[in-house]
Amino acid sequence: MSANDKPHNKPWSGRFSEPATELVQRFTASVSFDQRLAEYDIEGSLAHARMLRAVGVIGKDDLAEIEKGLAQIRTEIQSGAFPWSEAHEDVHFNIERRLIELAGEPGKRLHTARSRNDQVATDVRLFVRAAIDDSLGLIKGLQRALLDLADAHTETVMPGFTHMQVAQPVSFAHHLMAYFEMFSRDAQRLSDCRKRVNRLPLGAAALAGSSFPIDRQAVAKELGFDGVCENSIDAVSDRDFAIEFCASAALIAMHLSRFCEELILWTNPRFGFVELADRFCTGSSIMPQKKNPDVAELIRGKTGRVNGHLVALLTLMKAQPLAYNRDNQEDKEPLFDAVDTLTMCLAVFSQLLSGIEVNREAMANAARQGHATATDLAEYLVRKGMPFREAHEAVSQAVRFAEGRGCELAELKLAELQKFAPAAGKDVFAALTLEGSLKSRTHIGGTAPARVKAAIVKARKTLG
Ligand code: ARG
Repeated sequence: MSANDKPHNKPWSGRFSEPATELVQRFTASVSFDQRLAEYDIEGSLAHARMLRAVGVIGKDDLAEIEKGLAQIRTEIQSGAFPWSEAHEDVHFNIERRLIELAGEPGKRLHTARSRNDQVATDVRLFVRAAIDDSLGLIKGLQRALLDLADAHTETVMPGFTHMQVAQPVSFAHHLMAYFEMFSRDAQRLSDCRKRVNRLPLGAAALAGSSFPIDRQAVAKELGFDGVCENSIDAVSDRDFAIEFCASAALIAMHLSRFCEELILWTNPRFGFVELADRFCTGSSIMPQKKNPDVAELIRGKTGRVNGHLVALLTLMKAQPLAYNRDNQEDKEPLFDAVDTLTMCLAVFSQLLSGIEVNREAMANAARQGHATATDLAEYLVRKGMPFREAHEAVSQAVRFAEGRGCELAELKLAELQKFAPAAGKDVFAALTLEGSLKSRTHIGGTAPARVKAAIVKARKTLG
């Protein structure tokens, strides 16, 4: 804090008889975290000043001084020389005060037809818009990594699970493409959310709008907004867009977490399906043999943070009367951390995925256990004319018999199978193989290698 920062020297202190206590100043200040919005605050101020000039509210020279001052402030912030001060509450007052220092009277004209309420709402929207664009880029990168991996594994058979028990054979590519679908929906959700984020609050001023002949469309255009917030009260009080972003982020984090959970299981030697690259693992301080999947675990763990931020924002807004309330200052830390956590997790996960080694043999071996093709046998019998319910019962008996023998269904002799299913012929064994099972599921959404190849080609096209 610099020496001439007098606590009572606030833009609003005229009607007060005493300064805020030191504790209250610290309690109400947000500059320690909202200085992160500085770049957007300057952009918004420039657009606002240009509009004020265009409609004749400020002079040409005023605008020139404001532009010059804000350019210097931008440089000072980038170089770390900007004199941030808690005595000036937030990012908005800090920048405005410095502008007045640099530009004098023109700097004092900038806040005409504006309030910090529409100013902060604009800054946060610009911030969320940038976060969405970053996240969309990261999701695309992750989807590309998924497609590359899937491309190499359309014939790699693994057991598909339900209830975490061996269910039916699927290809590893098919399993990966399930995640591709999740991330596609995530990208769609973010793009949809972006439409509602990308509306300009400026012009709402404190809540009631402005008596000046402001041109909100011009400001919107300059800042790249698709339009303006239609109601000035809503413009300053709405934080739905931030909640929507966090909700989308929570879903993405949940998807990443599920994937990480699987990687963690698969790297356990009991599965041994994949090996993570050493650069993504850590060792133990006591157990020399350990190679732990910490990166995957951390991503799984960070899901809780993102969920927490979503709940924090929902709770922040739930009882606020219209319009702006200072509660809203509390939107920033959860939002910032949600963005940081999400973008970091997406970036790290893409790298982690690109570095995995797949153990085809271990996957196939696991698929050969647990009678994974029992459903195929039932379907084979249906093709021989048996009603499905009867076929199901017959195969259940055969499985029970195989269990008693300590062998797999696919290992039974034809004569043994025929005890339960007299319709079974020599061709039954083709239906009982993993490859046969996979190949037979050729419909849209099925796991047949040719179908998954086609799905990958189609998916690649959607990425552009
Ligand atoms: N720092 C405040 C926030 O984050 C800026 C708006 C303050 N407005 C006010 N009227 N006190 O929300």
